[in-house]
Amino acid sequence: MIYMLDTADLNAITQAVDLYPIAGVTTNPSIIAKENRPFKAILLDIREVIGRERMLHAQVMGKDARTMLKEAQALRELDPQIIVKVPVTTQGLKAMKLIHAQGIRITATAILTPQQALMAAVAGAEFLAPYVNRLDNICGDGTAVAADMVQLIENYQLDAKVLAASFKNIQQVHKVALAGVQSVTIAPDLMEQLLVHP
Ligand code: E4P
Repeated sequence: MIYMLDTADLNAITQAVDLYPIAGVTTNPSIIAKENRPFKAILLDIREVIGRERMLHAQVMGKDARTMLKEAQALRELDPQIIVKVPVTTQGLKAMKLIHAQGIRITATAILTPQQALMAAVAGAEFLAPYVNRLDNICGDGTAVAADMVQLIENYQLDAKVLAASFKNIQQVHKVALAGVQSVTIAPDLMEQLLVHP
């Protein structure tokens, strides 16, 4: 299991990196907005805390592929090892092909169906992030989607990993772990809860 921390809170990252086997940090626009500081400064500070050996994921916000490509290039200039998160819209998929062609690592994000994940992996995404809780919240089955994604990676021998995301409780994390996802990204408070027993 590859554990990542889903936050831009520097104190929480510092603490978690010290305590837990954290392989990286994921951010998204709402996580960044909570910090109330400039985007670039936040990413540079996170990199300083986590060091070069851990992964840092940051999301593009453009609506069209060209804008997303430009954002990805700017992110790489800021941090050569950055992994760029791209939503699985139609333009996002086009952007993934362009960004992948530039040798930039990609996380396909906001995945809600296994077929979105499959196409993203074929377009060059290295990590595939299904939004487990958001699916559960709309009467979907986040675990089933994650499990199907694991199966598709296996069927097609894809060079991609499921990065299950959007958790609100430990049971969701446990279920996707049993389904064989390769990685999870978890908010700091939930990460702590993973070890708790009354
Ligand atoms: C993934 O990388 C996202 O940051 C994430 O987990 C979003 O989940 P949420 O917005 O449902 O909390």
